[in-house]
Amino acid sequence: MKAAVCTGYGPPEVLQVREVGEPAAGRNDVVIGIRAATVTASDVLIRSGIPSARLVMRAMMRLFMGFTRPRRAIPGAVLAGEVESVGRNVTRFRVGDRVWAFTLMRCGCYAQRICLPATTKLLAPAPSNLTHDEAAAIPYGGLLALYFLRAAQIRRGERVLVYGASGAIGTAAVQIAKHFGGTVTAVCSAANLELVRSLGADAAVDYTTADAPARAGAGYDVVFDAVGRRKTSPLKAALPNALAPGGRLFSVDDRLPRVRRADLEYLGELAEAGALRPVVDRRYPLEQVAEAHRYVEGGHKKGNVVLTIGG
Ligand SMILES: NC(=O)c1ccc[n+]([C@@H]2O[C@H](COP(=O)([O-])OP(=O)(O)OC[C@H]3O[C@@H](n4cnc5c(N)ncnc54)[C@H](OP(=O)(O)O)[C@@H]3O)[C@@H](O)[C@H]2O)c1
Repeated sequence: MKAAVCTGYGPPEVLQVREVGEPAAGRNDVVIGIRAATVTASDVLIRSGIPSARLVMRAMMRLFMGFTRPRRAIPGAVLAGEVESVGRNVTRFRVGDRVWAFTLMRCGCYAQRICLPATTKLLAPAPSNLTHDEAAAIPYGGLLALYFLRAAQIRRGERVLVYGASGAIGTAAVQIAKHFGGTVTAVCSAANLELVRSLGADAAVDYTTADAPARAGAGYDVVFDAVGRRKTSPLKAALPNALAPGGRLFSVDDRLPRVRRADLEYLGELAEAGALRPVVDRRYPLEQVAEAHRYVEGGHKKGNVVLTIGG
């Protein structure tokens, strides 16, 4: 089968599409034919080897991920596809089932097929109303946004500010915060104001203008920073001041989120109910994986970038 292989840490060109061995299902496994995989900010970070990180941090990362190249040669942690074969003990899935999965550190999604234990925590039936490309655009941003917004315990009518509302996590956060009953102000650049409004934001603020902190205002019950520590602006620096007394501030980089299968299933229900729409910015064929990484690395994708993968 064809797969993108990460040949070392470095620029997007370290990703090469090659023929690799076919996976075979053991008695408790499923083999999934992958139709779409998401290129995430995390994939890009791992591939790069984080050259800008402190030496200690880089050494720790490589201890965990692999010294000269990622131990998991095939990158990608989010897939949508179809079950192609099942092991003899598997009752949870049948051949032909449409599924989606977040494989976490196991990676392996930039490939035509993957073999996973049927009990894999974040493997579930995909929403029936979405194409494979659309389905692949939900789990990464959706699970991260859901984790932090649940921690925020949004109550109906509370004012919520989502900073960085146009990325994978941000576009999911706007919709989930609305679903939880929040009144949502979305912060993004001018080009994405219409997008975030179309996702349900009650107000949208361009973070690139000098008066952005004033226009975003104050008195928020919840502020969620969906872009993390590395992306800054004057408005971001002002986020703590935007909180109402007793307000809750969360950043996507605060901690590693804990994710459960029930959360993935919940996202599927939201998608089927139309409360969570996938946002796909660009699609690239597997062969153009390096271009896809270069685009995501630019840091300005709208929602998600998806690799389309043929059988
Ligand atoms: N805690 C964890 O385990 C964990 C896991 C995964 C990711 N993360 C963090 O989550 C972050 C976001 O992930 P993602 O996949 O949503 O990223 P993403 O899709 O690449 O985010 C891109 C978005 O960031 C916006 N942006 C860029 N510079 C900005 C700035 N200075 N101020 C505000 N917005 C800015 C861009 O919007 P414009 O084009 O409108 O500027 C773009 O839409 C990652 O960078 C990482 O730090 C944490």
